[in-house]
Amino acid sequence: MTTYYRTTNVMDIKVIQGAIQKQDADVLVVNLFAGARPGGATGAVDQALGDQISAAIDLGDFEGKVGQTLLLYTHGQIPAPRVLVVGLGEQEGFDLERARRAAGTAIGTLGRLGTKSAATILHGTGAGNLPVEPAAQAVAEASLLAAYRFDEYRSRPQSQSLTKLHIVEFDSTKLREARRGVRRGRALGEATCLARDLVNHPGGEVTPAYLARAARRLAKTHDLRCRVFSAKGLAELGMGALVAVGQGSANNPRFIVLEHGPRRGKPLVFVGKGITFDSGGLSLKSVEGIRTMKADMSGAAAVLGAMQAVAALGLKRRVVGLIAAAENMPSSTAFRPDDVLRTLAGKTIEIVSTDAEGRLVLADALAYATRYEPAAVVDLATLTGACVTALGHHASGLFANDDDLADRLLAAGEQTGERLWRLPLWPEYREQIDSDIADMKNSGGRPAGASTAAALLAEFADYSWAHLDIAGTAWCTKAKPYVPRGGVGVGVRLLTQLALDWSSS
Ligand code: BES
Ligand code: MN
Ligand code: ZN
Repeated sequence: MTTYYRTTNVMDIKVIQGAIQKQDADVLVVNLFAGARPGGATGAVDQALGDQISAAIDLGDFEGKVGQTLLLYTHGQIPAPRVLVVGLGEQEGFDLERARRAAGTAIGTLGRLGTKSAATILHGTGAGNLPVEPAAQAVAEASLLAAYRFDEYRSRPQSQSLTKLHIVEFDSTKLREARRGVRRGRALGEATCLARDLVNHPGGEVTPAYLARAARRLAKTHDLRCRVFSAKGLAELGMGALVAVGQGSANNPRFIVLEHGPRRGKPLVFVGKGITFDSGGLSLKSVEGIRTMKADMSGAAAVLGAMQAVAALGLKRRVVGLIAAAENMPSSTAFRPDDVLRTLAGKTIEIVSTDAEGRLVLADALAYATRYEPAAVVDLATLTGACVTALGHHASGLFANDDDLADRLLAAGEQTGERLWRLPLWPEYREQIDSDIADMKNSGGRPAGASTAAALLAEFADYSWAHLDIAGTAWCTKAKPYVPRGGVGVGVRLLTQLALDWSSS
């Protein structure tokens, strides 16, 4: 057993100086804006191929729309036997997300062709006005993410054949920037793939103890400090909520601490919900509702991925990752509806539903974060079905008690394409979780379910804090250019971007 994670992508990505049409690779990847004529590198390839790309445009076979591709055979006119043209869409409004999608679309086509080596130009650095460094990051990152396959449990692997990707830049003054971008893109791509692996493994494999082993392993390979509290340690510490949620399972809970950077100073703290399987407990889920609940540790996976990325990028600032890991199961030892739990912060919570377990384990993790006197805390959790109802799969819910932190996160969301939408945290939602016998109850009923969950968390956040409800974004059922079906690894790139921006401001 126990491959904690594989380096799924054994893709070698290199930046080289040269003319794209002179490269020797199985496929050359160039691009085209909608309604444009081939120019720059694409124009050079078009010329070398006797205007084949122009002909396809003139015949209406290729328009350069987003997601569109054109495959050409070169018949010895240039060293590479094939050329793939990817559409970039309208030049107006071109951004990094479209650059990532173009790279992802290209990788998808190369995968279906069984290509082993490819050479690509950067997308949008010419007419698209993107700076070279982020454009190079986008291609490296999206290529790794698009090539990702989870085939740990298949007898015959389906993994991509592409092992060599050359990013070709003609202008030698831009090579340094391009290489910096590729380095960052690789770190983020690999960290996101780690998170995906953790999410995709079934709950029988990825238990709280497994998450703890993965964290310890990460600390070794990436020079992080790691501390794990076992079930006994949690009880001694006073984490009554985390203990209660975990007590119905033979797979005992854990609390995991990962630290990067200086030992002193106010850190940025990331907190992840690590429910390794959410059956609902005694408030058992339905046959349909229980499917994919192995992914209820996606917040934890994002924190592990982000810690790997900040370490790999050598971030100077102090960053702490906290993970509350437990399996929510029904049994004779399980916690029950009507129980009252005492949290680490001392506040008590009456249990309405054992299926509202995420906010319970996070309450203890958020209280633990107080001891760091954090500069800011961001928690990620697949917390509520209500958030999925509100935003679908196209944005994570954002809640914050600090507008500046919210704005920083929204900006990081735009930059990474991991979109966020801010939802309210009004006092009325807090009233909805007033309890008759305890300080609060763990469910406020159906109305505004995402906001009442956040209102409970806010009770434990006595610092600058934001909460991301990733229930709708952590799991993908319809493949996108650089997100295959299954675990998305959402939050890794977002959190790392936040930490990078924070360090440079
Ligand atoms: N893990 C679920 C939330 C969830 C639902 C994530 C669907 C991904 C997809 C969470 O623990 C949960 O069960 N929440 C309940 C809360 C309710 C009982 C107050 C919900 O949203 O139904
Ligand atoms: Mn639940
Ligand atoms: Zn849950």
